[in-house]
Amino acid sequence: MTPTSKDRVKIFDTTLRDGEQSPGATMTHAEKLEIASMLDEMGVDIIEAGFPIASDGDFEAVRDIAKLSREATICGLARANLTDIDRCWEAVREAKRPRIHTFIGTSPLHRAIPNLTMDEMAERIHQTVSHARNLCEDVQWSPMDATRTEWDYLKRVVEIAIKAGATTINIPDTVGYTAPVESADLIRRLIANVDGAENVTFATHCHNDLGMATANALAAVDGGARQIECTINGLGERAGNTALEEVVMAMRVRGDIMPYETGVDTTKIMAISRRVATVSGFQVQPNKAIVGKNAFAHESGIHQDGMLKNAETFEIMRPSDIGLAETSLVMGKHSGRAALRAKLKDLGHDLGDNQLKDVFVRFKALADRKKEVYDEDLIALMSDASVEA
Ligand code: KIV
Ligand code: ZN
Repeated sequence: MTPTSKDRVKIFDTTLRDGEQSPGATMTHAEKLEIASMLDEMGVDIIEAGFPIASDGDFEAVRDIAKLSREATICGLARANLTDIDRCWEAVREAKRPRIHTFIGTSPLHRAIPNLTMDEMAERIHQTVSHARNLCEDVQWSPMDATRTEWDYLKRVVEIAIKAGATTINIPDTVGYTAPVESADLIRRLIANVDGAENVTFATHCHNDLGMATANALAAVDGGARQIECTINGLGERAGNTALEEVVMAMRVRGDIMPYETGVDTTKIMAISRRVATVSGFQVQPNKAIVGKNAFAHESGIHQDGMLKNAETFEIMRPSDIGLAETSLVMGKHSGRAALRAKLKDLGHDLGDNQLKDVFVRFKALADRKKEVYDEDLIALMSDASVEA
């Protein structure tokens, strides 16, 4: 079925907050400003720039990102207390579009930490969200560990947050515990049952402990969420967060079954992925979806031959869609004659069948010794006198 109109899903990037919380991923002030500017430029709707109360450095980064922001909403994180919220407001207030994001753990395990009764926590939520709303028109509230919170309590506290003035309700799967069917169902049930649900945007925030963050986020959208929280390269605590590039490209490539659009200019994905990898020190695994080195690389003969005839045979997106110049045909022992011929032609050698036969034998012998045969190896192979004869 071809959709006639697409629902807009907001992209909330938390690379600079949740992503930077990964052990070892700390970024400098200048690097944070640079990443924020790239996110703004690529059309991300909301940038969670940091946790202002965490340190003076975090505060200054959020404040400077807010000052320099152009289109994106700039959000800061705050725990459920007035001091955190005031500090957060100080940091974001100069943004063109500021947002305060306040949260508290609502599951039984998380409630035990501040040692509050259910009623005391409900009262705290009312007080802190009201306070945030008095400072800022755009307030996001999150019941941390929502997916392990009892349904009745979750419904109750979400209603309290909405009454107190929250404009976005984020449902975090803090420990990556949920699964797609449940993720969709939870958002659907909240929208159907919570008083005031029609006045807020529901968001999804998934961690990747079971490798389901992307699937869970997209399922939540299916259930009615209209904001996805994510990070570049899936950076984030433990196994990371939903990867921005995955959800955005999934909705773009499979618009037939996920008729949603985002404001993200996907051609900027590769550049920001590489920059985040460099500044965070977290290299992207080669087989990572969308941005891994091998995501648009082909070595086997059958695949290379198919790609040379029609790229759609083995690629569901064009490399240019994510800002990559071209597909790479990696020359190795699995490569076939067609790819070798095309590669040599690119290098200026248009071989006839007999010549190719000879070079191919020697190419295979070389490929057996080397993992990858580079252009320089092929040039050396061609400069061999017996080939040119
Ligand atoms: O994972 C989580 O619960 C969080 C909250 C602060 C939203 O990052
Ligand atoms: Zn998180």
